[in-house]
Amino acid sequence: MKKFRLLATTAFGTEGITKKEVKKLGFENINVENGKVFFDSDKEGIVKANLWLRTASKIYWVIGEFESLSFSDLYDKVYDLPWEKIFNKNASFPVNAKSVKSTLFSLPSIQSISKKAIVDKLKDKLHVDVLDESEEEYEILVDVLKDKVTIRINTTGEGLFKRGYRIEKNDAPMRETLAATLVDISNWNFRIPLVDPLCGTGTILIEAALKGKNIAPGLYRSFEFEKWPFMKAEFVEEERNIAKSQISENELILRGYDIDEEVIEIAKANAIRAGVSEYIKFEVRDLKNFESDINYGYIISNPPYGERLGTYDEAKYINDLLGKIFIKLDNWSMYIFTAFEEFETVFTKKSTKNRKMYNGKIKCYFYQYYGKRPPKKRQ
Ligand SMILES: C[S@@+](CC[C@H](N)C(=O)[O-])C[C@H]1O[C@@H](n2cnc3c(N)ncnc32)[C@H](O)[C@@H]1O
Repeated sequence: MKKFRLLATTAFGTEGITKKEVKKLGFENINVENGKVFFDSDKEGIVKANLWLRTASKIYWVIGEFESLSFSDLYDKVYDLPWEKIFNKNASFPVNAKSVKSTLFSLPSIQSISKKAIVDKLKDKLHVDVLDESEEEYEILVDVLKDKVTIRINTTGEGLFKRGYRIEKNDAPMRETLAATLVDISNWNFRIPLVDPLCGTGTILIEAALKGKNIAPGLYRSFEFEKWPFMKAEFVEEERNIAKSQISENELILRGYDIDEEVIEIAKANAIRAGVSEYIKFEVRDLKNFESDINYGYIISNPPYGERLGTYDEAKYINDLLGKIFIKLDNWSMYIFTAFEEFETVFTKKSTKNRKMYNGKIKCYFYQYYGKRPPKKRQ
């Protein structure tokens, strides 16, 4: 059985969450670095990781790792990798480069020298003069970080946040992988009623529904590895069918509200495309009219936070309102993801736990207010 070293990239600060997922899927030899989770896999694992990892950004196949301080050394070490065992002679292989805090920093040079080394190796080993690069593509990334070079191939294609259910976008969509991360950090499970009273396009609730029903987040999209001859279509289909058979019968209570009618229509359409519309009730409702007859539940939400999403006064008003609502919800837990620095002051309560996170490049906080412990059965 051929072994692959895989790398799941993640947002900085959330490696531990992705590591937990990787472990749960049964992968071994897990190693964590900043924004990266490495693990061993077989061929099926490439499919499984792409289908199932909810919080990872992309899955790469690591071809080699080494230190390098000069371009001639880079050429030799890239040449030494077993490219002829990876590519057919007509495969195409664009090479991209990244460099951070390293002696080798010219990206065009890293790129062209690595490409030349691969081309030379293939020509030598396959005994051909020309490589026409007319067939399946392998997107190579030469990533140089503090003089350590990692050569990897993108197995995913477009980022895993592109689940395929979101087509329309409003001004403030949250990445699907980030929403899944928030749900994961909150320790929400399918027994707990979950409300997002500022749900926008519904990303948090849709990700919760996918998790609560044990639906693989990548089930309905395609991946780069499907174009590779050694990943036969039947075999990928089989993994998809296994994932389909694992969808659970769990019943969920999920509610989404937003003041914006248009955005609620988008949320509904997204939920339909994600195959979870029957588990989420979306409604147009102003936060000031929030009420719930549920005795125990979670709120996970991403209010407007006065940077690109609304004004400072709006953020203040909403967060103050959230504080007043929370006081009345005795047994509930509340999880608020925001970049609003004054959140705790305006909310008027210190969080049980707070975690610094990023929404793209925006520094955010995940304020966590723990309520009662989750009941064993739904209340
Ligand atoms: C940052 S966005 C939420 C984005 C969401 N997480 C998503 O993935 O699309 C905040 C949302 O709060 C809504 N909102 C603002 N004021 C509101 C109010 N008073 N009541 C209900 N919703 C409100 C906005 O319409 C917006 O959709």
